[in-house]
Amino acid sequence: MDLAVTADGTGPGDLDLVREQRNRQRGRRGAFLGYPVNMDVDYRAFGELLDVLWITVGDPSRGYHARLDLQPFEREVVRFLAGVAGADSSRTYGYVTSGGSENNLFGIHVGRERLPDAPLYYSTTAHYTVERTARLLRMEPVPVASTRDGSIDLAALRAACERRPGRGAVVVATVGTTVAGGIDSLPGVLRAVEPAGEHHLHVDAALGGLVAAFAPNPPGWGFDAGADSVAISGHKLIGTPVPCGVVLARAELVGTPAEVEYLSAEDSTLACSRSALAPALLWYALRRLGHRGLAARVHRCLDTAAYAVDRLEAAGFRPWRNPASVNVVFERPAEHLCRRWRLSTSGPVAQVIAMPHVTRAMIDGLVADLR
Ligand SMILES: Cc1ncc(COP(=O)(O)O)c(C=O)c1O
Repeated sequence: MDLAVTADGTGPGDLDLVREQRNRQRGRRGAFLGYPVNMDVDYRAFGELLDVLWITVGDPSRGYHARLDLQPFEREVVRFLAGVAGADSSRTYGYVTSGGSENNLFGIHVGRERLPDAPLYYSTTAHYTVERTARLLRMEPVPVASTRDGSIDLAALRAACERRPGRGAVVVATVGTTVAGGIDSLPGVLRAVEPAGEHHLHVDAALGGLVAAFAPNPPGWGFDAGADSVAISGHKLIGTPVPCGVVLARAELVGTPAEVEYLSAEDSTLACSRSALAPALLWYALRRLGHRGLAARVHRCLDTAAYAVDRLEAAGFRPWRNPASVNVVFERPAEHLCRRWRLSTSGPVAQVIAMPHVTRAMIDGLVADLR
């Protein structure tokens, strides 16, 4: 495929090259088992809406940018997800970000502004960008061991805080680690950081938060369980055709926004221009699903995860999963099978993640290959 951009530009066939890419992507859907993204998306109705610039700036919750009022969608997405995350939406700040990493950067930054000398505590199974965020924000990174179920080792966290008394703690608790779906106990984390003094608890709930919200016997994961800021991904459980995320924080913790005269905007977000399409896509998905639709989706994913455990066991593997997680971990199979089914791997284990596009038939296909 010749994608060279030439001096003269070319013609109408160019879109066919993009279409080929999209067709390849569609073709992968049936064997895409190991990554926490939702391939079951269909936003073709938006095609005809792409003849305007979907741009927004500033806070969705404060003021309004007079020339491009695209923020009502964003406000409703934030209001709805704040409620799901156990917050009083009238006291919650939030906006739509570029994805999970920006979510975490924002939440950790809020913590750093509150507690400038505090180290950043996180488990070794937290997302790899968390350590990078500590470096970006010039915080002392304190990785803490994790236990066999992928959650943070609370005794090790307490010991790490005891070695740094009185400096405060910014802590990332992960609800649904990328590999194994480990869920950090928020009450346990809050007890463990007591020796540090004041704390800011940021919850990286990229995929696991919405799963936990609708799982039977849900673990506490949101503001009602002690979170100060919460990160939720848009392209994971909800499913958008481009990456995006939603970050939420207790409004009183978010500093004074920049007053940007040339934009007539107040802005506490991390960027200036942001996508206004992402909030519209998220709103469209949530509006169609509603609370009940999301719950039904989670139940179906958990059911598929349970089915994967059964089938793998029947095939002689020793699969394992957290009860409130859609990640199923098992012994790493031959490399060509990891590639064929796009299993994500970590040392001796591979995983299937029962995202909304994953069906029982796909699990059957994998298990047939594994036998
Ligand atoms: C737990 C967790 N946090 C953060 C991220 C990063 O999200 P993004 O890829 O949208 O930046 C991921 C990605 O898989 C994740 O699983």
